[in-house]
Amino acid sequence: MTETAGGTFSRRRLLLGGAAVAGGATLAGALTGCAAAGPTAPEAAPEAPYGDDVVAFRGRHQAGVTTPPPAHTWFVALDLRDGVDRSGLTRLMTLWTDDIERLTGGRAPLADQERELAAVPASLTVTVGVGPDLFGRTGLDALRPASLAQLPAFDAIDRLEQRWSGGDLLLQIGADDVVTVSHATRVLTRDARSFAEVRWVQRGFGRARGSVPDGTTARNLLGQVDGSANPVGDAREQAVWSAEGWLAGGTMLVLRRIRFDRDHWEQIGRADRELVIGRRLDDGAPITGGAEKDAVDLSAVDENGLEVVPSFAHVRQARARDASELMLRRGYSYDDSPTPDGTDDAGLLFAAYVADIERQFLPVQRRLADNDLLNRWTIPVGSAVFAILPGIGDGQILGHQLLDA
Ligand code: HEM
Repeated sequence: MTETAGGTFSRRRLLLGGAAVAGGATLAGALTGCAAAGPTAPEAAPEAPYGDDVVAFRGRHQAGVTTPPPAHTWFVALDLRDGVDRSGLTRLMTLWTDDIERLTGGRAPLADQERELAAVPASLTVTVGVGPDLFGRTGLDALRPASLAQLPAFDAIDRLEQRWSGGDLLLQIGADDVVTVSHATRVLTRDARSFAEVRWVQRGFGRARGSVPDGTTARNLLGQVDGSANPVGDAREQAVWSAEGWLAGGTMLVLRRIRFDRDHWEQIGRADRELVIGRRLDDGAPITGGAEKDAVDLSAVDENGLEVVPSFAHVRQARARDASELMLRRGYSYDDSPTPDGTDDAGLLFAAYVADIERQFLPVQRRLADNDLLNRWTIPVGSAVFAILPGIGDGQILGHQLLDA
């Protein structure tokens, strides 16, 4: 037998082929550790194409915001325990910094009970944030960025539940392997126990890495290509990263848990579904023509002079009026058990990163709350905001810019 192609597939074929040719007796021998396995006994384990991939933890910005989105991201909010002050928060950040550095490098943290689970980093990133109430609770009130406040109520659309809202601290834990994410979550929440308790965990997913080419825009569970019109290059950097005070190099996250009413959405035809957004379902291209990454032409009119993209279309309302409204969207799907009354519970963990929530996010959200037809099939059930801490250099502790300010 010759191995004609490199990589996992051919190696696996070789292993399977060897066992089949050698027959049952040899297989039994191999299972009992007998040395008489014959000349085709495997020497190398199959390759794991992405398991060893590492994303740098230290740098000007935390990883997990503009680094490529992994297959799985869990958002974990925690509340500080009573009496935890600035020095308690510093101890927690010291612990987390060491844990995260080891975990993202594929090494077990110091008190890891399941060290083997840490051996597959699979592009693990852990991104740490702080919520608006943390500042008052730790005597840091004067340092709360002005626009870091829970969003105002959007009574026409919101059906918010406390169990998916708020939080003093955020761990955004992402990797291409969900076991890696689960293990990191366990280690980091356990090490935080004397300082903070978990408030909620929201588990999001996209396509498995390798199912579609790297860089493919995600689809949400309404089947839409979601993320096409995100800013890129300098526009993205400007939109995302703060240049203000201790937050310079950090950003702000708006996380909205948006349940889909799939039962009703599925009753409307494809053409109407495309009008609701302004983009095609098959490839995400604008309904006004062009390719996926092209902007929807909001000025296009049909032969009767009517706007091709209706006033209620999502992209018409969501489109930034100018650069000051740009945001980076990086959502994940969720699909949980039905609610106790039997309601389907799947949707979008909508995550937007902006340097300033008031200036960039709120004008867009207000327009959508008032005019977006998509609201008929989408229900915000959770809402939280966090300042994502700036990145750190060698020897520095996460949050030092805030804690030492
Ligand atoms: C309710 C659940 C939502 C769904 C299912 C959804 C889906 C989509 C889809 C399919 C697109 C077109 C493709 C793209 O450019 O990414 C889009 C565009 C966009 N969405 Fe949403 N979205 C939702 C909520 C929101 C919210 C809450 C905001 C912000 C407040 C938002 C802001 C935007 C922006 C800024 C664009 C790009 C518009 C453009 O410049 O063309 N979306 N969304």
